[in-house]
Amino acid sequence: MTLILKIDPINPEKELIIAAAKVIKEGGTVVFPTETVYGLGANGLDSEACKRIFEIKGRPRDNPLILHISGINSLYNLTVDTDRRLLDFAKKVWPGPITMLFKADPKVPRIVTAGLPTVAIRCPANKIALSLIEESGTPIAAPSANISTKPSTTRLKHILQDLDGKVDMIIDGGQTTFGVESTIIDMTTTPPRLLRPGALTVDEIEKHIGNIIVPKTINQKLIDNETAIAPGMKYKHYAPDKRLVLVSNKDLFAEAAVVAKERQEKIAILCSSQTAKELRESTDLQNITLIILGNGDNLYEIASNLFDAFRTLDDTKAKLGFIQGFDERGIGLTIMNRILKATGNSVAKDPDDIADAIIM
Ligand code: TXA
Ligand code: MG
Repeated sequence: MTLILKIDPINPEKELIIAAAKVIKEGGTVVFPTETVYGLGANGLDSEACKRIFEIKGRPRDNPLILHISGINSLYNLTVDTDRRLLDFAKKVWPGPITMLFKADPKVPRIVTAGLPTVAIRCPANKIALSLIEESGTPIAAPSANISTKPSTTRLKHILQDLDGKVDMIIDGGQTTFGVESTIIDMTTTPPRLLRPGALTVDEIEKHIGNIIVPKTINQKLIDNETAIAPGMKYKHYAPDKRLVLVSNKDLFAEAAVVAKERQEKIAILCSSQTAKELRESTDLQNITLIILGNGDNLYEIASNLFDAFRTLDDTKAKLGFIQGFDERGIGLTIMNRILKATGNSVAKDPDDIADAIIM
């Protein structure tokens, strides 16, 4: 049975946090909000509790977990790194949507690190998360609260779709702020290296830490048999069940509408409100469901609606979805990373590609 607790994200009710922390202390699982996406949490120092996370998600055991802490002091217990530079940096960016890899202290359970020498740590900027960790008195191991391969969850409806009946408790703290996962950087290399683009942009990180390495391949498909830099990056991820195709140019949406009508196929178009307006004015949208990602001039808004839109696509009658691309600067790098993963790098470059995608 899953207990659902509604907690105020601005002023978390103390007695409710105590109830949730009790579940963590007793080795149970609690879904809780962070400023990025919801996490599926358990006591990060209890191997048996962490094992349940893997079972519930259907997550491969070689994909390590992030430990969530409520303050910098806990960092000293989890890493053998004592370099002041690292700690000073952590102080500047935490609490915040960035996860850092440090050399793991031997007391971090093997199931958390998947046997790697490093441990991923993050101090989330969300009051419910912080007070839950604090009250539990232990780091909380938490991957995103979704079934493995599905998009991460940003609100209760989608958590229930994936995890109702499987976890002990779900905390409903409303919609998460960023809607995409934290940025991950490896602090064990000099300069530090970006492993997963996320909610905190490269520019913002570099303001605090100086130059970081951004691999050119960060948004290209990782070859399956290559060792992925963040193990989780090699798996199909964040994907809707329906096929999703990126269009290289939004003018191709009009072509898609024509082919869909000719072929009597229902399709969905995932685009900004601006693009939607243009399409409504210029195109016969008879067989089209428009899924609006938000204001194209505010890429943070697009990011925060992205995973919701992927799940909405699955709820429509559309055979497949076409999605518009965004400028890869700033948070756009993260948006495009998630879109490319969700499409499995399938891109329509011309009208033939559009027709092929619809007919297939
Ligand atoms: O925003 C977030 O980071 C959310 C919230 C809940 O905090 N969490 C999240 O966790 O996205 P998850 O498990 O879905 O993604 C964590 C990623 C995985 O790709 C995993 O492989 C990588 O972090 N990771 C964890 N520990 C690692 C390590 N020691 N070395 C390399 N990659 C690591
Ligand atoms: Mg995840």
